[in-house]
Amino acid sequence: MSNFSPPPGTSDIFPEEISLWHRLEDVARKVFPLYGYREMRTPVFEYTEVFKRGLGDETEVVQKEMYTFEDRGGRSLTLRPEGTAGIMRSLAGTDVMNGNEKRVYYIGPMFRGERPAAGRRRQFHQIGAENAGRVSPELDAESIALLLQYLDELGIAGHKLLLNTRGSGEDRKPAEDSLRLYFADHVSGMCPDCKNRLERNVWRILDCKQPNCRVFIENVPDIAGLMGEPSRKYFEKVCNALSIMDIPFEVDSRLVRGLDYYVHTVFEVTHPGLGAQNAIAGGGRYEIFAPESRKPIVGVGFAAGLERLLMAQEALSVKPPLMENIPAVFLIGLGEKALNENLKLASLLRKAGISAIAEVEQRSIKASMRTANRLAAKFAVIRGEDEILKGTIILKNMADGSQSEITPENLLVNIR
Ligand code: HAM
Repeated sequence: MSNFSPPPGTSDIFPEEISLWHRLEDVARKVFPLYGYREMRTPVFEYTEVFKRGLGDETEVVQKEMYTFEDRGGRSLTLRPEGTAGIMRSLAGTDVMNGNEKRVYYIGPMFRGERPAAGRRRQFHQIGAENAGRVSPELDAESIALLLQYLDELGIAGHKLLLNTRGSGEDRKPAEDSLRLYFADHVSGMCPDCKNRLERNVWRILDCKQPNCRVFIENVPDIAGLMGEPSRKYFEKVCNALSIMDIPFEVDSRLVRGLDYYVHTVFEVTHPGLGAQNAIAGGGRYEIFAPESRKPIVGVGFAAGLERLLMAQEALSVKPPLMENIPAVFLIGLGEKALNENLKLASLLRKAGISAIAEVEQRSIKASMRTANRLAAKFAVIRGEDEILKGTIILKNMADGSQSEITPENLLVNIR
């Protein structure tokens, strides 16, 4: 560990990279409202119960990855490992409980104590969208359409949409029984967690990452056909709606996703340019219980990992236009009066919407010009005692080196 490094699995985002992040956010703010979604913000920490009850006690995230702490009042709080449970905690008690639809999206940091690796961070960022309150296969397909339009507008091509159904309620019982029978035969060769999962929550085995368990998971019999008819019909309608919208997908009957709130549709978008952590986004339909509520909130949504979107863009050599965040004008003054006049001029420029940096110390012209070059300023304004007496300034165009003597009042017309 160097003294200058942030904690493992976290990163600093420097000014040189920030415009890439802004673009991910700007495109979301443009595309998501086209589907009727409005931005919402919830706290980065919640009562621990929000996640334990919301995501499911048996999930890896709840069992092994949460940053949980006690506050001074003895309350158990947790840094949010994902966005959906907090949003639903906030919407529980509103009219979404009576079937009124609410479409919201969110952007922000999430926290999971995972082993850091390429694309796997302990603080990472998600953009997510939730459509809460109503159940309909067409809404599931529309949520996927939103995600794919977002990826398209970011220039992320070559991804794959994986789709599955987890069924719902009693409907999934035959599939669950069949899974249990299959894994019961192999459990002696599987990890201790999977041995527990066999009785407590057999679906979670499908999400195990241990290599010796993966061998058995890869060979699991196709259970989709064992779902009850209502769940199968629901899934057919989702597939149909996707086809109507010309959205290609691949059914992967082993896809269960890592959170326990999913029912019916689950999906993941993967990208080949990412290596082992190849999911750029995932989501599905859910039923989430907020703490103390007896009725779940229903909804469908997804979240995309911003670090992974950037990795996909890099793999595809997508070069989003960089925002102009270099100063337009660098002001240099020789003598106290000139420095003070420059302070005034810099503030006039900024009020006119032009970025300006004024050198605040008396330094040599040469040293100041070096700074102007380092900042990549477009213009330098130089004012010495002579110019103060004459009421003028020297304007230097940094690109071609040309310079002219003008009055400060004429600066705006000369640089626009
Ligand atoms: P998730 O699949 O756990 O789903 O996360 C969504 C995306 O966040 C992943 O596909 C990945 O791109 C990114 N991600 C997850 N963990 C990490 C990590 N440790 N480092 C970097 N990126 C990561 C959810 O979080 C659900 N809340 C999605 C959802 C919304 N389902 C319904 N509504």
